[in-house]
Amino acid sequence: MKFTIAVIPGDGIGPEVTNQAKKALNAVADTYNHVFLYKEAQMGACAIDETGNPLPEETLNICKKSDAILFGAIGDPKYDNNPTATVRPEQGLLRLRKELGLYCNVRPVKAYDQLIANSPLKEEIIKGTDIAIFRELTGGIYFGIKELSDDKQVAFDGCSYSVEEISRITHLAFQAAQNRRKKVTLVDKANVLETSRLWRKTVTEIAKKYKDVSLEFLFVDNAAMQMILNPKQFDVILTENLFGDIISDEASVIGGSIGLLASSSIGDKSALFEPIHGSFPQAKGKDVANPLASILSAAMLLEHLGLHEEAEAIERAVEKSLVLGITTEDIKNKSNFSASTSKVGDFIADYISNQEDSN
Ligand code: IPM
Ligand code: MN
Repeated sequence: MKFTIAVIPGDGIGPEVTNQAKKALNAVADTYNHVFLYKEAQMGACAIDETGNPLPEETLNICKKSDAILFGAIGDPKYDNNPTATVRPEQGLLRLRKELGLYCNVRPVKAYDQLIANSPLKEEIIKGTDIAIFRELTGGIYFGIKELSDDKQVAFDGCSYSVEEISRITHLAFQAAQNRRKKVTLVDKANVLETSRLWRKTVTEIAKKYKDVSLEFLFVDNAAMQMILNPKQFDVILTENLFGDIISDEASVIGGSIGLLASSSIGDKSALFEPIHGSFPQAKGKDVANPLASILSAAMLLEHLGLHEEAEAIERAVEKSLVLGITTEDIKNKSNFSASTSKVGDFIADYISNQEDSN
């Protein structure tokens, strides 16, 4: 089959990890007889440098016309060190999410057996962890009214949620739970926030339609603690934008490295796939960054396109690289061997091609 994939490498390590994901996709295309037509586009600090705009219209148009979007990373120290800059790389990603209506962000967190020792958490706590975090992505405080008083002494960020915004992601979270261990945990701050109370009310109502799925509630402060005390209690976590941002970075510790966490951001018409890690500017161009999160994002992209077998081929190749210890330095094995970004990407692509040969 033929698909158009918008590729936005972005900033920092984005281009190098995205290249490895493309190698994996190319191996899939060759092996399974598909055509992936890549349309490269710019977003983030590199787009500001060239066009003054973190999300050029051309990028938006390319994304709108594609079957799926593969995105690398965004951000640059020159903006991180200057929080008052009014044009910022992150605005590109936030606007893209909003314009394309990518309201449902799914971040799977798994403890791979081969990497248990890489996590600072104890084996007995994390072994067997398998969580899907459903983070609402186009509402809440990220997109509320922002104000700074004229004398710059008072700042304001508004947070709002509508029943409709809550409902659409809630249905997706419950449907996912039906195919998993049938439990949804709503993470909120309903003891303090009005928006959280609306989340509880709406989710409780919707839960009645999914009788095979159990629903639990956790305040976000407690959830942050439970995530490292007993992560195995979680199946699907459903939460709003800001809480999901924070909880998912915390959860990445379970996997042994943030360099492993992939994500999908789904809307009614578009879908974007990206690693949850940032642009890691210290590693830019050094061929040391972990490409697995980007490669696993490509697997999620294939799954979204209905190419299940192909997605599994990528996942098997990733597992194999972990078993053999062909990994970057953030998750290096006991023998202290570490491979470069591109070597890991080559291994994954070769393994995908050869797996099929041996079938
Ligand atoms: C993420 C990132 C973004 C977010 C930033 C880059 C705007 O941290 O995707 O988790 O906060 O959503
Ligand atoms: Mn984040």
